[in-house]
Amino acid sequence: MQAIILAGGKGTRLRPLTLSIPKPITTIANRPFLYYQLEMLKKAGVEEVILGLSYQPEKIMEVFGNGEKLGIKIRYLVEPEPLGTAGAYKFAESLINRTTIVFNGDILTNIDMAMAVKLHRERNATATIILVPVENPSAYGLVETSTDGKVLRFLEKPKANEITCNTINAGMYVLEPKALSYIPRSQEHSFEYQLFPRLLKEKEPFYSIISKDYWLDIGTNSRYLQANLDVIANKLSLEITRTRLAAWQSAHIDDLSLVDETVNLETNVEITNSVIGANCAIEREAKIKDSVILPNTKIKANVIIEKSIIGENCLIKESSTILKGSVLGNNTSISDFSQIGLEL
Ligand code: GTP
Repeated sequence: MQAIILAGGKGTRLRPLTLSIPKPITTIANRPFLYYQLEMLKKAGVEEVILGLSYQPEKIMEVFGNGEKLGIKIRYLVEPEPLGTAGAYKFAESLINRTTIVFNGDILTNIDMAMAVKLHRERNATATIILVPVENPSAYGLVETSTDGKVLRFLEKPKANEITCNTINAGMYVLEPKALSYIPRSQEHSFEYQLFPRLLKEKEPFYSIISKDYWLDIGTNSRYLQANLDVIANKLSLEITRTRLAAWQSAHIDDLSLVDETVNLETNVEITNSVIGANCAIEREAKIKDSVILPNTKIKANVIIEKSIIGENCLIKESSTILKGSVLGNNTSISDFSQIGLEL
Protein backbone atom coordinates (compact mmCIF):
# COMPACT_ATOMS: atom_id res chain seq x y z
CA MET A 1 0.00 0.00 0.00
CA GLN A 2 1.17 3.54 -0.63
CA ALA A 3 0.59 6.83 1.17
CA ILE A 4 1.16 10.50 0.54
CA ILE A 5 1.68 13.00 3.33
CA LEU A 6 0.91 16.62 2.50
CA ALA A 7 3.72 18.42 4.23
CA GLY A 8 4.19 21.57 2.21
CA GLY A 9 2.19 24.20 4.14
CA LYS A 10 3.80 27.30 5.61
CA GLY A 11 2.29 26.62 9.03
CA THR A 12 1.55 30.28 9.67
CA ARG A 13 -0.61 29.56 12.72
CA LEU A 14 2.31 27.83 14.39
CA ARG A 15 4.68 30.78 14.14
CA PRO A 16 7.16 31.58 15.52
CA LEU A 17 8.26 27.90 15.62
CA THR A 18 7.61 27.46 11.89
CA LEU A 19 9.67 30.46 10.83
CA SER A 20 12.80 28.34 10.94
CA ILE A 21 11.46 24.83 10.39
CA PRO A 22 8.39 23.40 8.64
CA LYS A 23 5.52 22.26 10.85
CA PRO A 24 5.90 18.54 9.95
CA ILE A 25 9.30 18.42 11.66
CA THR A 26 8.57 20.57 14.69
CA THR A 27 9.29 18.23 17.57
CA ILE A 28 6.57 16.58 19.59
CA ALA A 29 7.94 14.91 22.74
CA ASN A 30 11.46 15.47 21.39
CA ARG A 31 10.90 13.80 17.99
CA PRO A 32 10.23 15.41 14.61
CA PHE A 33 6.46 15.14 14.25
CA LEU A 34 6.35 13.15 11.00
CA TYR A 35 7.97 10.18 12.76
CA TYR A 36 4.63 9.56 14.47
CA GLN A 37 2.76 9.50 11.15
CA LEU A 38 5.39 7.42 9.36
CA GLU A 39 5.44 4.80 12.13
CA MET A 40 1.67 4.67 12.19
CA LEU A 41 1.52 4.21 8.42
CA LYS A 42 4.15 1.49 8.60
CA LYS A 43 2.07 -0.31 11.24
CA ALA A 44 -0.91 -0.13 8.87
CA GLY A 45 1.08 -1.97 6.18
CA VAL A 46 2.27 0.97 4.08
CA GLU A 47 5.62 0.25 2.39
CA GLU A 48 6.06 3.47 0.48
CA VAL A 49 5.36 7.07 1.41
CA ILE A 50 5.49 10.14 -0.80
CA LEU A 51 6.13 13.40 1.03
CA GLY A 52 4.58 16.34 -0.84
CA LEU A 53 6.73 19.35 0.05
CA SER A 54 6.86 23.03 -0.72
CA TYR A 55 7.98 25.11 2.31
CA GLN A 56 11.63 24.57 3.36
CA PRO A 57 11.66 21.11 1.74
CA GLU A 58 15.36 20.35 2.21
CA LYS A 59 14.98 20.48 6.00
CA ILE A 60 12.43 17.66 5.90
CA MET A 61 14.53 15.60 3.46
CA GLU A 62 17.52 15.93 5.74
CA VAL A 63 15.64 14.38 8.68
CA PHE A 64 14.16 11.33 6.94
CA GLY A 65 16.44 10.64 3.94
CA ASN A 66 15.20 7.67 1.94
CA GLY A 67 13.44 6.22 4.99
CA GLU A 68 15.83 3.29 5.31
CA LYS A 69 16.31 3.78 9.06
CA LEU A 70 12.56 3.64 9.57
CA GLY A 71 12.10 0.62 7.30
CA ILE A 72 9.77 2.49 4.95
CA LYS A 73 10.54 3.81 1.46
CA ILE A 74 10.27 7.60 1.28
CA ARG A 75 10.12 9.64 -1.91
CA TYR A 76 9.90 13.40 -2.11
CA LEU A 77 8.08 15.72 -4.46
CA VAL A 78 8.74 19.43 -4.25
CA GLU A 79 6.11 21.66 -5.81
CA PRO A 80 7.44 24.61 -7.79
CA GLU A 81 4.82 26.69 -5.97
CA PRO A 82 2.30 25.60 -3.30
CA LEU A 83 -0.47 23.67 -5.02
CA GLY A 84 -2.84 23.26 -2.07
CA THR A 85 -3.91 19.90 -0.65
CA ALA A 86 -5.55 18.29 -3.71
CA GLY A 87 -3.05 20.01 -6.03
CA ALA A 88 -0.20 18.35 -4.12
CA TYR A 89 -1.89 14.94 -4.50
CA LYS A 90 -2.30 15.56 -8.25
CA PHE A 91 1.36 16.58 -8.46
CA ALA A 92 2.24 13.03 -7.32
CA GLU A 93 0.12 11.46 -10.09
CA SER A 94 3.03 9.78 -11.88
CA LEU A 95 3.91 7.92 -8.64
CA ILE A 96 0.37 6.87 -7.79
CA ASN A 97 -0.91 3.61 -9.21
CA ARG A 98 -3.06 2.08 -6.48
CA THR A 99 -5.22 2.78 -3.43
CA THR A 100 -3.53 5.58 -1.51
CA ILE A 101 -3.76 6.85 2.04
CA VAL A 102 -3.56 10.64 2.08
CA PHE A 103 -2.66 12.48 5.29
CA ASN A 104 -2.39 16.11 6.23
CA GLY A 105 1.10 16.34 7.70
CA ASP A 106 -0.09 17.87 10.96
CA ILE A 107 -2.46 15.27 12.41
CA LEU A 108 -1.49 13.36 15.53
CA THR A 109 -3.66 10.27 15.78
CA ASN A 110 -3.67 6.55 16.46
CA ILE A 111 -6.53 5.58 14.19
CA ASP A 112 -6.16 2.16 12.57
CA MET A 113 -5.70 3.03 8.88
CA ALA A 114 -5.53 -0.66 7.88
CA MET A 115 -9.12 -0.96 9.06
CA ALA A 116 -10.04 2.22 7.16
CA VAL A 117 -8.57 0.83 3.91
CA LYS A 118 -10.39 -2.48 4.43
CA LEU A 119 -13.73 -0.72 4.82
CA HIS A 120 -12.96 1.52 1.83
CA ARG A 121 -12.41 -1.58 -0.33
CA GLU A 122 -15.46 -3.44 0.98
CA ARG A 123 -17.59 -0.44 0.05
CA ASN A 124 -15.96 -0.12 -3.40
CA ALA A 125 -15.43 3.55 -2.64
CA THR A 126 -13.60 6.01 -4.87
CA ALA A 127 -12.93 8.09 -1.76
CA THR A 128 -13.18 7.59 1.99
CA ILE A 129 -12.81 10.48 4.39
CA ILE A 130 -12.06 10.05 8.09
CA LEU A 131 -14.24 12.25 10.29
CA VAL A 132 -13.96 13.11 13.96
CA PRO A 133 -16.70 14.34 16.28
CA VAL A 134 -16.16 17.75 17.93
CA GLU A 135 -17.82 19.37 20.93
CA ASN A 136 -18.32 22.79 19.35
CA PRO A 137 -19.49 22.19 15.77
CA SER A 138 -20.20 25.89 15.06
CA ALA A 139 -16.46 26.67 14.85
CA TYR A 140 -15.74 24.20 12.04
CA GLY A 141 -16.60 23.10 8.55
CA LEU A 142 -18.84 20.06 9.06
CA VAL A 143 -19.29 16.92 6.99
CA GLU A 144 -22.80 15.47 6.93
CA THR A 145 -23.20 11.73 6.36
CA SER A 146 -26.00 9.17 6.02
CA THR A 147 -26.48 6.28 8.44
CA ASP A 148 -24.71 3.91 6.01
CA GLY A 149 -21.65 6.19 5.97
CA LYS A 150 -22.16 7.93 2.62
CA VAL A 151 -20.92 11.53 2.52
CA LEU A 152 -23.88 13.82 1.85
CA ARG A 153 -22.72 17.42 2.25
CA PHE A 154 -19.93 19.76 3.28
CA LEU A 155 -21.18 22.58 5.50
CA GLU A 156 -18.72 25.47 5.84
CA LYS A 157 -18.98 27.30 9.19
CA PRO A 158 -22.76 26.74 9.49
CA LYS A 159 -25.06 29.04 11.50
CA ALA A 160 -26.62 27.56 14.67
CA ASN A 161 -29.89 26.59 12.89
CA GLU A 162 -27.96 24.88 10.06
CA ILE A 163 -26.00 22.50 12.27
CA THR A 164 -27.10 18.95 11.52
CA CYS A 165 -24.07 17.01 12.75
CA ASN A 166 -20.86 17.34 14.77
CA THR A 167 -18.36 15.57 12.50
CA ILE A 168 -15.42 17.37 10.90
CA ASN A 169 -12.83 16.45 8.30
CA ALA A 170 -9.89 14.78 10.08
CA GLY A 171 -7.47 15.50 7.19
CA MET A 172 -7.06 11.79 6.41
CA TYR A 173 -8.39 10.05 3.34
CA VAL A 174 -8.24 6.84 1.33
CA LEU A 175 -8.42 7.55 -2.39
CA GLU A 176 -8.54 5.51 -5.58
CA PRO A 177 -6.41 6.78 -8.49
CA LYS A 178 -9.70 7.61 -10.26
CA ALA A 179 -10.06 10.65 -7.96
CA LEU A 180 -7.02 12.15 -9.72
CA SER A 181 -9.03 12.54 -12.90
CA TYR A 182 -11.18 15.23 -11.24
CA ILE A 183 -8.21 17.43 -10.26
CA PRO A 184 -6.70 19.87 -12.78
CA ARG A 185 -2.97 19.62 -13.36
CA SER A 186 -0.53 22.30 -12.10
CA GLN A 187 -3.19 24.41 -10.43
CA GLU A 188 -3.84 25.17 -6.79
CA HIS A 189 -6.66 22.87 -5.75
CA SER A 190 -8.26 21.95 -2.43
CA PHE A 191 -9.76 18.68 -1.22
CA GLU A 192 -12.38 20.31 0.98
CA TYR A 193 -13.61 23.06 -1.30
CA GLN A 194 -13.07 21.58 -4.76
CA LEU A 195 -12.36 17.88 -5.18
CA PHE A 196 -14.81 16.54 -2.58
CA PRO A 197 -17.83 18.62 -3.68
CA ARG A 198 -17.01 17.50 -7.24
CA LEU A 199 -17.00 13.81 -6.25
CA LEU A 200 -20.47 14.31 -4.76
CA LYS A 201 -21.69 16.03 -7.90
CA GLU A 202 -20.32 13.24 -10.08
CA LYS A 203 -22.04 10.67 -7.78
CA GLU A 204 -18.77 8.83 -7.14
CA PRO A 205 -18.98 6.36 -4.23
CA PHE A 206 -17.77 8.63 -1.43
CA TYR A 207 -17.85 7.24 2.11
CA SER A 208 -16.87 8.30 5.61
CA ILE A 209 -15.53 6.65 8.73
CA ILE A 210 -16.23 8.36 12.04
CA SER A 211 -13.27 7.80 14.33
CA LYS A 212 -13.44 7.86 18.12
CA ASP A 213 -9.67 7.44 18.42
CA TYR A 214 -7.24 10.08 19.64
CA TRP A 215 -6.99 12.91 17.05
CA LEU A 216 -5.37 16.32 17.22
CA ASP A 217 -4.35 18.85 14.58
CA ILE A 218 -1.06 20.21 15.95
CA GLY A 219 -1.18 23.40 13.84
CA THR A 220 -1.61 26.14 16.48
CA ASN A 221 0.57 27.02 19.46
CA SER A 222 -1.97 25.80 21.99
CA ARG A 223 -2.53 22.51 20.17
CA TYR A 224 1.21 22.05 19.67
CA LEU A 225 1.67 22.29 23.44
CA GLN A 226 -1.33 20.00 23.94
CA ALA A 227 0.14 17.42 21.54
CA ASN A 228 3.38 17.33 23.51
CA LEU A 229 1.57 16.92 26.82
CA ASP A 230 -0.83 14.31 25.41
CA VAL A 231 2.06 12.18 24.12
CA ILE A 232 3.83 12.21 27.49
CA ALA A 233 0.51 11.55 29.25
CA ASN A 234 0.39 8.41 27.11
CA LYS A 235 -2.92 9.30 25.49
CA LEU A 236 -1.81 7.57 22.28
CA SER A 237 -0.26 4.52 23.94
CA LEU A 238 3.12 5.16 22.31
CA GLU A 239 6.22 3.77 23.90
CA ILE A 240 8.25 6.54 25.51
CA THR A 241 11.62 5.98 27.10
CA ARG A 242 12.16 8.31 30.02
CA THR A 243 15.76 8.59 31.11
CA ARG A 244 16.59 9.56 34.69
CA LEU A 245 20.33 10.16 34.97
CA ALA A 246 22.16 9.75 38.28
CA ALA A 247 23.53 13.26 37.71
CA TRP A 248 19.97 14.59 38.03
CA GLN A 249 19.50 13.15 41.53
CA SER A 250 19.17 16.53 43.18
CA ALA A 251 16.47 17.64 40.74
CA HIS A 252 12.77 16.77 41.10
CA ILE A 253 11.31 15.35 37.90
CA ASP A 254 7.77 13.96 37.93
CA ASP A 255 6.88 10.68 36.25
CA LEU A 256 5.29 12.30 33.19
CA SER A 257 8.10 14.64 32.16
CA LEU A 258 10.37 13.77 29.27
CA VAL A 259 13.91 15.11 29.65
CA ASP A 260 16.51 14.45 26.96
CA GLU A 261 19.54 12.66 28.34
CA THR A 262 21.89 15.43 27.20
CA VAL A 263 20.21 17.97 29.52
CA ASN A 264 22.10 19.46 32.44
CA LEU A 265 20.06 19.95 35.60
CA GLU A 266 21.28 21.68 38.76
CA THR A 267 20.15 21.28 42.38
CA ASN A 268 16.47 21.57 43.22
CA VAL A 269 15.30 22.10 39.68
CA GLU A 270 11.63 21.09 39.48
CA ILE A 271 10.22 19.70 36.25
CA THR A 272 6.54 18.81 36.14
CA ASN A 273 4.53 17.56 33.14
CA SER A 274 7.01 19.04 30.66
CA VAL A 275 9.26 18.21 27.73
CA ILE A 276 12.89 19.35 27.80
CA GLY A 277 14.87 19.11 24.54
CA ALA A 278 18.48 18.15 23.88
CA ASN A 279 21.37 20.14 25.34
CA CYS A 280 19.26 22.40 27.51
CA ALA A 281 20.81 23.56 30.77
CA ILE A 282 18.62 24.40 33.73
CA GLU A 283 20.13 26.05 36.78
CA ARG A 284 19.32 25.67 40.49
CA GLU A 285 15.80 26.15 41.86
CA ALA A 286 14.25 26.75 38.42
CA LYS A 287 10.67 25.43 38.14
CA ILE A 288 9.16 24.27 34.86
CA LYS A 289 5.57 23.09 34.63
CA ASP A 290 3.22 22.09 31.75
CA SER A 291 5.70 23.44 29.20
CA VAL A 292 7.87 22.56 26.24
CA ILE A 293 11.50 23.72 26.19
CA LEU A 294 13.15 23.20 22.80
CA PRO A 295 16.84 22.22 22.39
CA ASN A 296 19.90 24.25 23.37
CA THR A 297 18.04 26.62 25.68
CA LYS A 298 19.61 27.90 28.90
CA ILE A 299 17.39 28.58 31.88
CA LYS A 300 19.10 30.38 34.73
CA ALA A 301 18.55 30.07 38.48
CA ASN A 302 15.12 30.66 40.06
CA VAL A 303 13.26 31.00 36.78
CA ILE A 304 9.60 29.92 36.74
CA ILE A 305 8.03 28.73 33.48
CA GLU A 306 4.45 27.50 33.26
CA LYS A 307 2.19 26.52 30.36
CA SER A 308 4.56 27.99 27.78
CA ILE A 309 6.64 27.08 24.74
CA ILE A 310 10.27 28.18 24.75
CA GLY A 311 12.03 27.97 21.37
CA GLU A 312 15.52 26.71 20.58
CA ASN A 313 18.67 28.39 21.78
CA CYS A 314 16.92 30.83 24.11
CA LEU A 315 18.46 32.36 27.18
CA ILE A 316 16.12 32.94 30.12
CA LYS A 317 18.05 34.84 32.74
CA GLU A 318 17.79 34.62 36.53
CA SER A 319 14.54 34.90 38.43
CA SER A 320 12.38 35.55 35.37
CA THR A 321 8.78 34.34 35.33
CA ILE A 322 7.12 33.18 32.12
CA LEU A 323 3.49 32.09 32.44
CA LYS A 324 0.19 31.38 30.70
CA GLY A 325 0.60 30.52 27.08
CA SER A 326 3.76 32.49 26.37
CA VAL A 327 5.54 31.42 23.20
CA LEU A 328 9.16 32.49 22.65
CA GLY A 329 10.74 32.14 19.22
CA ASN A 330 14.22 30.70 18.72
CA ASN A 331 17.19 32.70 20.03
CA THR A 332 15.11 34.87 22.36
CA SER A 333 16.97 36.34 25.31
CA ILE A 334 15.05 37.38 28.42
CA SER A 335 16.78 39.54 31.00
CA ASP A 336 16.92 38.98 34.78
CA PHE A 337 13.67 39.34 36.76
CA SER A 338 11.52 39.72 33.62
CA GLN A 339 7.81 38.92 33.91
CA ILE A 340 5.82 37.55 30.99
CA GLY A 341 2.15 36.61 31.23
CA LEU A 342 1.80 37.93 34.79
CA GLU A 343 -0.94 40.36 35.72
CA LEU A 344 0.35 43.65 37.10
P1 GTP B 1 -1.48 27.45 8.29
O1 GTP B 1 -0.66 28.41 7.48
O2 GTP B 1 -1.29 27.68 9.76
O3 GTP B 1 -2.93 27.38 7.88
O4 GTP B 1 -0.89 25.97 8.08
P2 GTP B 1 -0.65 25.12 6.75
O5 GTP B 1 0.11 25.93 5.78
O6 GTP B 1 -0.02 23.84 7.17
O7 GTP B 1 -2.10 24.88 6.17
P3 GTP B 1 -3.16 23.79 6.62
O8 GTP B 1 -3.04 23.53 8.10
O9 GTP B 1 -4.48 24.16 6.11
O10 GTP B 1 -2.67 22.52 5.80
C1 GTP B 1 -3.09 21.22 6.07
C2 GTP B 1 -2.02 20.25 5.62
O11 GTP B 1 -1.80 20.36 4.21
C3 GTP B 1 -0.67 20.53 6.27
O12 GTP B 1 -0.09 19.31 6.61
C4 GTP B 1 0.11 21.25 5.21
O13 GTP B 1 1.51 20.98 5.29
C5 GTP B 1 -0.46 20.69 3.93
N1 GTP B 1 -0.46 21.68 2.85
C6 GTP B 1 -1.16 22.85 2.81
N2 GTP B 1 -0.94 23.48 1.66
C7 GTP B 1 -0.08 22.70 0.95
C8 GTP B 1 0.53 22.81 -0.35
O14 GTP B 1 0.33 23.79 -1.08
N3 GTP B 1 1.35 21.80 -0.75
C9 GTP B 1 1.59 20.72 0.05
N4 GTP B 1 2.42 19.77 -0.40
N5 GTP B 1 1.04 20.57 1.26
C10 GTP B 1 0.22 21.56 1.70
